[in-house]
Amino acid sequence: MCGIIAAASTRNVGKILVQGLHKMEYRGYDSAGIALHQENQIAHLRTLGKVSLLEEKMILEKPKSKLGIAHTRWATHGEPSEENAHPHKSNERVYIVHNGIIENYLSLKNFLAKEGYSFTSETDSELIAHLLDYFLTTNNSMLDAMYLMIEKLEGAYAIAAIDRNDKSNIVIARNKSPLLIGLGEDELLAASDPLAIGQLTNQFIFLEDGDVANISANSYQIYDSLKNQIKREISEIDISSEASSKGEYKHFMEKEIFEQPVAVLNTIDGRVGGDDVLENIFGIGSSDVFSKVKRIQIVACGTSLHAARVAANWFSAISELPTQTDYASEYRYRNPHVDEDTLFVTISQSGETADTLAALKYAKEKDFLSTLTICNVPTSTIARESEFSIFTNAGPEIGVASTKAFTTQLVALMLLALSLAKSRSRNPKLRGRVITALRQLPDIVSETLKLKDSIVKIAPEIASKDNALFLGRGIFYPIAKEGALKLKEISYIHAEAYPAGELKHGPLALIDEDMPVIALCPESEIAEKLVSNLEEVKARGGTLYVFSDPSISLELKSGKLINMPKCDFLLTPIIYTIPLQLLSYEVAMIRKTDIDQPRNLAKSVTVE
Ligand code: F6R
Repeated sequence: MCGIIAAASTRNVGKILVQGLHKMEYRGYDSAGIALHQENQIAHLRTLGKVSLLEEKMILEKPKSKLGIAHTRWATHGEPSEENAHPHKSNERVYIVHNGIIENYLSLKNFLAKEGYSFTSETDSELIAHLLDYFLTTNNSMLDAMYLMIEKLEGAYAIAAIDRNDKSNIVIARNKSPLLIGLGEDELLAASDPLAIGQLTNQFIFLEDGDVANISANSYQIYDSLKNQIKREISEIDISSEASSKGEYKHFMEKEIFEQPVAVLNTIDGRVGGDDVLENIFGIGSSDVFSKVKRIQIVACGTSLHAARVAANWFSAISELPTQTDYASEYRYRNPHVDEDTLFVTISQSGETADTLAALKYAKEKDFLSTLTICNVPTSTIARESEFSIFTNAGPEIGVASTKAFTTQLVALMLLALSLAKSRSRNPKLRGRVITALRQLPDIVSETLKLKDSIVKIAPEIASKDNALFLGRGIFYPIAKEGALKLKEISYIHAEAYPAGELKHGPLALIDEDMPVIALCPESEIAEKLVSNLEEVKARGGTLYVFSDPSISLELKSGKLINMPKCDFLLTPIIYTIPLQLLSYEVAMIRKTDIDQPRNLAKSVTVE
């Protein structure tokens, strides 16, 4: 999704800003732009496509400047084009960058048109530049204009604005869209993503909704929604360059798949002791609250929702609690009934997903026992808005397709199932068994990654097809869905998932030699039934690729049977995810797609 970076410095900032845009490329974008203050004029460069094209323009024009703003855009209002790219300007005076969506843009556009402003883009963001210009004509400072302007806005925004008549200050504002200040040496920075400026500072101030701030090279002032000057906490976070570079790998996605043994270890580390989970690992007082929980409601999107659907089985089997899972984008609109003592859980890698955040805000107004999040970004809005939290500690995930975030979410959800069971005095023996299995998990994940060579061999057969079907039963159905999601998002092959028992109720009609069927077949009480479902596919000429426990006997005429390492059944969903990630990656490699930034997608989806 869109990315903002701004810098006020005692040195030239052009390079800093473009490097920051590169760091945010993983979020997904379609165009980029920069505005640099140069004494009495502003250099304004925009390009459709990659940041490297903007960089080429900068090399040709060599603008020098100590103050500027820059942006990567992910189209919402108006197609990807140079005209729609940010920064937007008004009267060659005000230049702005904006993330978010202005919901009342039509009425504001009409108002501005009557005041004589004309629009050169199809975006909602351009009106921000004009409104600021409008208020600047009757007010002296950008700060005053910003307050008058945001009073008129409905929706979500992170904004950075500069004025041609002021070479020292950048004014920024935040509402429902992330924005932070970075304290550098002889320079102040602002960004929507700490990764953008993580090379320049390890000191960050996360703005809150309604905050407006003024930054210059040597000072900053932050004001709350009532315009009172306030202090916000400074957080020290080290964002190492290693975490945001590909190292020896071709893609971030590949790197992140292979980081999973360490990522999983980091999720478990410091949270288990002896043969149980430690107390209060979700925050002080969490163990006490957990003893009262009677029901769980989880909301999430995409991959994170698949994690929720696996975990619902664990909450039932280990914590003896019923669980409901919902798409975050749907939850609020189904008029949900809230039972007494229900724990509201969100799952989000980024912690900024607008649908999940909106559902959390809605839940906070309802009668839930408490709110809890499973998140990978401790500084994110969802983490800050939730009463309890656990961080997956997976490290930055840059590839748009979620990999290590998913497996670590599953581990964290297992810790939640165990903690709930412990607080409710349920299943101590089973808890001990799972803790032993969790300790072995990083090694089993490493073992599973060795399947890469077998997967490389089957990838060409799937890469040549237009469709694929994924099958799993029970706790493996959400894993089949995750496998299908991975394949479609990075290789653009249409893929669907079904619980294998459903095949004969319709989808069996799709089976022919052009429909590869990828099946998950662990050792379980319904393994035999699953094998019968696969026989139905075989009998109709379908090509099967089966990931299975070595104990399962299945003879294939075509396709491949790949044996999986042994693992405690409750943790097998984590292990069976890995070959599906590798398969999507290898298929996408053959189809030469943009693996880390697949078309039309964004890493952090900050619009509803
Ligand atoms: C798929 C993927 C998305 C995200 C979804 C939620 O690979 O990454 O489906 O899982 O957009 O994002 P978070 O977890 O950041 O809330």
